[in-house]
Amino acid sequence: KIVNVVLSGGVGSRLWPLSRKSKPKQYLPIFDQQSLFEKTVGRNRGICDQVMVVGGVDNYQLSRDILDKVGVSDYIELVEAAPRNTAAAIAFAAMAVSSDDVLLVTPSDHLIGKQEKYEALLREAIGMAQSGALVTFGLIPSRPETGFGYIEYEGNEVLGFREKPDLATAREFLDRGNFLWNSGMFCFTAGTYLDELKKYEPELFEKAKNAYQHADSGFLPLELSMEIPSISVDYAVMEKSDKIKVVPSDFSWSDMGSFEALYEYFQPGTKERVGNNLVIGAGRKHVEFVGLEHVVLVETADAILVLNKESAQEVKKVYERLEKES
Ligand code: GDD
Ligand code: MG
Repeated sequence: KIVNVVLSGGVGSRLWPLSRKSKPKQYLPIFDQQSLFEKTVGRNRGICDQVMVVGGVDNYQLSRDILDKVGVSDYIELVEAAPRNTAAAIAFAAMAVSSDDVLLVTPSDHLIGKQEKYEALLREAIGMAQSGALVTFGLIPSRPETGFGYIEYEGNEVLGFREKPDLATAREFLDRGNFLWNSGMFCFTAGTYLDELKKYEPELFEKAKNAYQHADSGFLPLELSMEIPSISVDYAVMEKSDKIKVVPSDFSWSDMGSFEALYEYFQPGTKERVGNNLVIGAGRKHVEFVGLEHVVLVETADAILVLNKESAQEVKKVYERLEKES
């Protein structure tokens, strides 16, 4: 069986005030009236036999509503009492199926184009996963982004995996030329993942197993979850394992993680673009900019955010400050 594990645990703090704890970015219907979550499920349906959603207690109802709407009913649902990061989230998913089931792990906040190419590469990855590999999907990097993982490669072989390097290192990787960005999607059998997790993060493995065994129809218990070390799959497994392989990928891909990514997505000619600026959520209001460029203006019922697109990563700090104050 091939299972699409949709990770839907993030709050999307860099997209505040669009993205809220009560309605994270992956559920906002801002891409041709569809949400990123819906698009994610849709693009993997042709290849996978079943959907599994691993998400937080604040948003499982939002996932249910969308799955209902698109007519998916036999999905597996795991609900985390608290987010413990992706190594644990994927461990729960692996524990919920048989060890030779193939997991296609996908974030729920990416936009991907060229569907036919995408499906062909997925099929290739599934074959490699069935032979025991932890498969990553690598994209040709276009800038020295420090928010991604980098894969040093030769064909399908991985010479090294480096999560979120500093800027100097990212520049060096681009210069050297044989590095790809890690897409954040993975493909492996449940058994391979759990073996590697146990080998490299035995404590995380045991604590995750304990929490999983005490889950109540897919709802994970809070106290046992809080004991699980919060580490991403990239640091916990991908940087360490020698079973990792890569499928160099040429589908179009973007991580809709920040307003800078939205700015790039809404090209001139779309209604969101006003000159070299971006306006989101202002409804039918007329907006003008004078003497300003690369500005993003976001309006919701109770908040307005104005930023320079170059400062998009700093929105997270605003979110964190407001969280603390509330
Ligand atoms: N269920 C669940 N629980 N999901 C989670 C949790 C959690 O505790 N934490 C994160 N996620 C989900 C997020 O919602 C997102 O869909 C996905 O897991 C990846 O988490 P991010 O926080 O977005 O990771 P990242 O962007 O910093 O880095 C990853 O993705 C990059 C590409 O977008 C890494 O895999 C990088 O190597 C990669 O380049
Ligand atoms: Mg991300």
